[in-house]
Order: sequence, then structure tokens, then C-alpha cells
Amino acid sequence: MNQDPKRYTITAALPYTNGPVHIGHLAGVYVPADIYARYQRLQGKDVAFVCGSDEHGVPITLKAKKEGITPQQVVDKYHEIIKKSFQDFGISFDNYSRTSAKIHHETASEFFKKLYDDGKFIEEVTEQLYDEEAGQFLADRFALGTCPKCGYEESYGDQCENCGTSHNAVDLINPRSVISGSKPVRKETKHWFLPLNEYQDWLDEWILKGHKKDWKTNVYGQCKSWIDDGLQPRAVTRDLDWGIPVPVDGADGKVLYVWFDAPIGYISATKEWAEREGKDWEPYWKDEQTKLLHFIGKDNIVFHCIIFPSMLKGEGSYILPENVPANEFLNLESNKISTSKNWAVWLHEYLEDFPNQQDVLRYVLTANAPETKDNDFTWSDFQQRNNSELVAIFGNFVNRVAVLTHKYYEGEIPQPGAFSEVDENTLRELRAYPSVIASSLERYRFREAQQELMNVARLGNKYLADEEPWKSIKTDPERTKTVMYVALQIASALAVLSEPFLPHTSGKLKHILKHAEVNNVPEWASVSQDTVLLPAGHIIGKSELLFSKIEDSQIQQQLDKLEASKAANEAEAKEVTPQKDTIQFDDFTQLDMRVGTILEAEKMPKTKKLMVLKVDTGIDVRTIVSGIAESFSAEEIVGKKVTVLVNLAPRPLRGVESQGMILMTETPDGKLVFVNPDEAGVDNGATIN
Ligand code: 2FM
Ligand code: ZN
Repeated sequence: MNQDPKRYTITAALPYTNGPVHIGHLAGVYVPADIYARYQRLQGKDVAFVCGSDEHGVPITLKAKKEGITPQQVVDKYHEIIKKSFQDFGISFDNYSRTSAKIHHETASEFFKKLYDDGKFIEEVTEQLYDEEAGQFLADRFALGTCPKCGYEESYGDQCENCGTSHNAVDLINPRSVISGSKPVRKETKHWFLPLNEYQDWLDEWILKGHKKDWKTNVYGQCKSWIDDGLQPRAVTRDLDWGIPVPVDGADGKVLYVWFDAPIGYISATKEWAEREGKDWEPYWKDEQTKLLHFIGKDNIVFHCIIFPSMLKGEGSYILPENVPANEFLNLESNKISTSKNWAVWLHEYLEDFPNQQDVLRYVLTANAPETKDNDFTWSDFQQRNNSELVAIFGNFVNRVAVLTHKYYEGEIPQPGAFSEVDENTLRELRAYPSVIASSLERYRFREAQQELMNVARLGNKYLADEEPWKSIKTDPERTKTVMYVALQIASALAVLSEPFLPHTSGKLKHILKHAEVNNVPEWASVSQDTVLLPAGHIIGKSELLFSKIEDSQIQQQLDKLEASKAANEAEAKEVTPQKDTIQFDDFTQLDMRVGTILEAEKMPKTKKLMVLKVDTGIDVRTIVSGIAESFSAEEIVGKKVTVLVNLAPRPLRGVESQGMILMTETPDGKLVFVNPDEAGVDNGATIN
């Protein structure tokens, strides 16, 4: 591929349609993919940016079972929610499709059929896990067990979330069924396998010995480990009733493996878009002059770098990905984002709490993107980046420029005089930014690129602070015209260069500057050129606030939400001792419980837990041996009022007769506490009933 491809096919991982999308999805895949696609469009490139809902696979079926609805109802519900979130956050897909679409079923079936007809599969009867209670094979996530590679006990049948290894359900140690919880048996069934071992040498050549060394270290490393370990045939069909039926004879009750059909979804989404736009889809997937890029999260690396390329290679007429810029994971307040534990910031909920502040989240997620390692999203960082960066640097610069232009010139861009050396240097620096930012973007370094964008706003602020137009307006109004003219060019450049990162802000800024009324609407490259972005005489609109301060109370509200999730999880996880058998009232009245006071306490020698107590029960002073020595020192309990069961039959404990029992309970972390009658005015000997 030369450096200047004819077109770009940019794909973003198809999200599973079993729940809404959260900040981890946005940070890992969709924001970087969108920045890249928008940037290439601004460069005037021909771009197809596609995605869609991944509507097959076991996670969907599991969700349907859990909610007591059909898989179709699950995907219909979440497809709409996910699609709307992407629109709301300005993810500029040319097409957002879905794998239940007819065009996808046809495309995936044809793809399978072509490989089948060309003899590219192995057909084999093997043993698979089968749940006899449920009467069903346990494909993929229907089985849980111990990972054969790392020993993680909650590994899925197809993939271990702990070590990232992908395996077959039969490889699990101590497998169990997610449906019934029972231990599965092994049962024979026929499937079609993609013989990845036959692609081993080619993959070695293409990725390891080829030019893929420029892939990100995490991506290259995972591929190398897979290839070095030796590739095995992979089943591409499953015994399930939800999915695309295997399109060959003798495959009743079988569907395509979700990871076989999902990446083909990129192709179907492109076809659907091309049909709508009256274009030909094929060059986007078959012309060597097309740059194919897959934006994904790290758990999808093997599928996009090894399996899908082998499928494409086997089919024979497709191009291969030029790069697979996979990100690591984003954590939330130091914990792994988890859908089941509701430890997430859901995009649709974020917008309810921060309406019209999509760009703030885009900005923070890019500033903190998990590009080379897992990263943490915290609400305090979110607030700080908004208040000290977006408001104080970007917003402040634009606001000053727009307000002063109205104050001095009623919104009309002034005619500049001769440029000083500072002006020339500032404009030169400004014109260098498009290629500086582009260089980071072309290397998928989105954090770095966005920092450079903010440096454009910093350049503007420094220029205003140094040239002080608010002072020169009184002493040298001609000089002020030049300064404001230069500042307006910087604001205009910001409007263009911020578009990939902060599309809503860029739109607002273009609206303020009335970019649309300027004949040559500036594109990326025009910022670099020695031409005028906003000409003298052009009238700009009124200033609008681009960003607003986020208050502590708003942040606290988000932290409270997370606390509530944590509390709910803890309550759910807590094991409460089940209630004992019912007793009669008479049984209860046989217990003689009294209020007492501990008079003396001494740890019993050579024991860890036991303490010998002298207790005033109101009836008498007696000896009670209690297992509380690990929770209390003798000093802290002498004088304490306690509840005593006084008519418990005496029993010897390590040679000392215990004449009753002190009632205790336990905190969640295992510390003993007294069932405490320490109320003023309760005498020893008072009965408890
Ligand atoms: O991990 C996931 O959410 C998958 N649904 C990604 C699929 S990407 C592609 F191949 F479609
Ligand atoms: Zn593992």
C-alpha cells in the first residue's frame, strides 16, 4: 500500500446487542474510530465508516432467558438504544447496520457457501458439551469452567476474560452449564472447522515477517503469541437456535458461529450503505488501493488479526486489514467496568445528567484513552479536565475573541496592518498544527493529537495575553486591528481542527464565526496554507458559551450513583444465614435472658479466643467463658452492659465451668459485637422478652 490510499474502509467493532453502551466502549473503540474517520474526511478522503449491532451469539440468548423475552425482542430494544447513543455522541458512521438484517444474512451465508464450495472447511464429528437437563449443546458462553491456561474458575466456554485466551468449551476444566448449573456430558455432533493451521505459515509471513511491525505493541504481541503457540482448526458453526442457519445440506439446527458472521457484518454494512448511496461496494473491500482498518478493543484482537483475515484470505477476493488499532480497557474509579454489577457510566444516562455535554466526555475519554495500557476514568478527573482545560483554555480563548470583536468592531473582522514578527511567528506556528496533529492521528495516537489541538488554543491565549488588545485599543487602535485579525484566524483554525475530536463544539464555533458564509469553508489543509481563513469584512455572530463549569455537586451525584451500585452488589453478594425452623411462643419463654454487667475479664491462658468473665446478672455474680478474646481486650469490656442467657445448662470449657452465654453478633468483616442493652436506667437482672 502506498502512502496515499484511494479510499478508506474504517470499521468499528459491532457491539453485542445485549445491553446499552458505556464509556468503556466509547473510549476503546468508537471515539478513536470516529476521530480518524472525521479527520480523513476533512482531508478530502473517500471514507466508508461502518458499524452495526452484533445481534447473534450466546450473550443475546442468555439475556433473553434472563428477561423472559425472545432474543429478537432483546436485539430490537438494544439496537435502538445503542444506535441513538452513537448518534447523540456524534459517532459519524456512514452506516450503522445490524446483523439480523436480510442483507447480512445473505452476505454471511454466501461467504460461508463460497468457502464450503471451495473446500476450505473441514467437516468433522466431535464431542461437545451437552446439558442433559436442558436438552441442549453448551456452545460458548453457555458453559463456564476453569480456564485450562490460567486457572481462572469463571472462564467462558469460548474465551477466558482473565487471560484473554480463546478456547473450545470442551477444554474447560470442571465445566458447568450456565442454563441449569448441572455438569455437562460430552455428546457427538457434526461441525465445520476453519483449518487455521493451514494459514499458520501465511500469517507468520504476513504479520510477523511482513510489514506489521508498525502495529501497536499489544496487537503485534498477541498475534505473535498466537502464531508461536501453533494454530488449531476452529469450529465456525454451532448447535444453537439463534443465528444464521448454516446454508448447506445436513446442517439442521445449526447456525454460523457469531464470530464467523459478525466481522462479515462490516461487509454487509458497507453493501447496505453503497446501495443507499448508489455506489459500488466492492472497491471498498476488494481494491488494493483501499486502506482497511479495524478499530477494536483488546479482547477482539485474535478475531480481527488471525481469524477474520484467514477467512478473507480463504475466500480469495478480499483485501486484508492494513492495521488493527486495538485499545486496552478503561476502568471506572479503579474498578473494572461491569455491566452485570452496574459499574459503568451508561451513555444514555450520562446525557440525562449532562445534557448537550457530549464533547466533554469525548474529550476526557480521549485525553485519558487506554491506548497503551488500561486506564482509569474518575469523575474528579472529568471535572478537572472540563473546568481547567475546556472551559479555561479553549472556551476562554474563543469567548474573548468573539466578545472583543463585537465590542470593538460590531462583529466585523478588521483589516489588519503590517504583521509584526510576533504575528508572523504565531501564524507560522498555527499553520504547522494541521500536519503535527495529522502525524499523531496517522499513527493512531489520539491522546497526543488532542493535546496538540489544545496547544492551538494555548497559542491563542498566549498571543492575546502578550499582545493585550484591550490595552492597545486605547493607545494604538490600528495595532489592535491586526491583533484581533490574527486571533480570529486562530479561532477559525480551532473550529476546523477540533472537528474530529469535538464535533459539536466545532459546529458551534463555526456557527459563531459564521464559517458557512465564507466562500471557501476551510478544510484541514487550508489551515496550513498561507491563505486567509476568515477575511477582513466578514461579520461573525454573537459569542455563545462553548463549555460551562461542572460543579462539585454534579460530581458528587455521580459518585453517589456508583456508591449505590456498590451497596446493591454487596447486598446481593452477602450470604445471610437462612431462618431456622419456627418455634412456639412457649419455647421462647423458656429462654431466660437478662441484662448483666461484666465485672472482670481475663484471657484464658493458652487459648486464642476464650475469655473468662465475671458477670453481675442481677441474680448473682457468675463465671461465663466467652469466645471473644480476638475481638476485645479485657480492659475495654470491663463495665460493659451485656445480654446474658442465664438458664443455659452449665458446661465446662477448658476446665472452667461456664454458667451462661453472652449474646453476640458479627460485623460483615468478622468482628464480634455485643447485643447491647447499654441503655441508661436498665438494671442488671432486667429480663429480655
Ligand atoms: O466484543 C464484542 O462486543 C463483539 N460483539 C465484537 C464484534 S466485532 C466484529 F467482528 F463484528
Ligand atoms: Zn485464562
